[in-house]
Amino acid sequence: MHFDPEKLRSYFAGGDGEVTLGDLDLERIPSHVTIIMDGNGRWAKARGLERSAGHVAGVDSLREAVTTSVRLGLDVLSAYAFSTENWRRPQREVDLLMHLFATTLVKELPLFRQENVRLRFFGDLTALPKDTYDVFRQGLEETRNNDGMTFALAVNYGSRAELVRAVRSLAEDVRAGQVLPQDIDEDAVSRRLYTRDLPDPDLLIRTSGELRLSNYLLWQLAYTELYVSEHLWPDFDRWEFLRAICSYQKRDRRFGGVVAK
Ligand code: FPP
Repeated sequence: MHFDPEKLRSYFAGGDGEVTLGDLDLERIPSHVTIIMDGNGRWAKARGLERSAGHVAGVDSLREAVTTSVRLGLDVLSAYAFSTENWRRPQREVDLLMHLFATTLVKELPLFRQENVRLRFFGDLTALPKDTYDVFRQGLEETRNNDGMTFALAVNYGSRAELVRAVRSLAEDVRAGQVLPQDIDEDAVSRRLYTRDLPDPDLLIRTSGELRLSNYLLWQLAYTELYVSEHLWPDFDRWEFLRAICSYQKRDRRFGGVVAK
């Protein structure tokens, strides 16, 4: 994906005292970065606020992450917004999140237009409240002709459920005689995942210092580099994003072999 060198320079002008654009190898920008946004609740608690205030602040971080990704020329930015397990949170918080997803998307449509960003979702959207679902459909519709970066949000997503769904669909096709068991290979499984049209992530960033995958993209992360940020999600900014990518660029990706691909 191409980026605008002028916009990139002014976006990262100055540095934050620790990292500057000069630390980055512009020839080795990852194609797909995915983020587990974690720590909204703790961020709010530390300020004596309700958890919802953390989610609201998290929206600003997500907006900045989208802009940073466009400036860097990523092909795909994806983020874990709501897991299949998140329904267990207090109803008030679930309602707030669903409302926030819908209102944020509507508000950000001009940004997606301006930055040529195409929106995608992965997860089981059928279980969402109707107004949230309708806004998602509208977002998909309004950005479908954008051919810049893809911004993919995981909503009501769980990796095990995704794999079960893929296995079930393969089993049905075997039963119908459309697929032979011996023809089932890694590609056949990948093609039945929600992420079938996305490249596997090159880099996973998880914020708030937690060392867990939390049922996120278990198949797709097989060879992904990991970066755990100590920042709580609302504190995650373009500089921490830059540090994550600089760290990624220092890795020797061998994909199980002996030399980097
Ligand atoms: C994790 O923090 C965050 C979430 C479960 C929700 C993510 C949602 C946002 C960043 C809001 C904006 C998103 C969109 C798509 C508009 P946590 O609540 O698990 O924090 P904690 O671990 O400190 O409790």
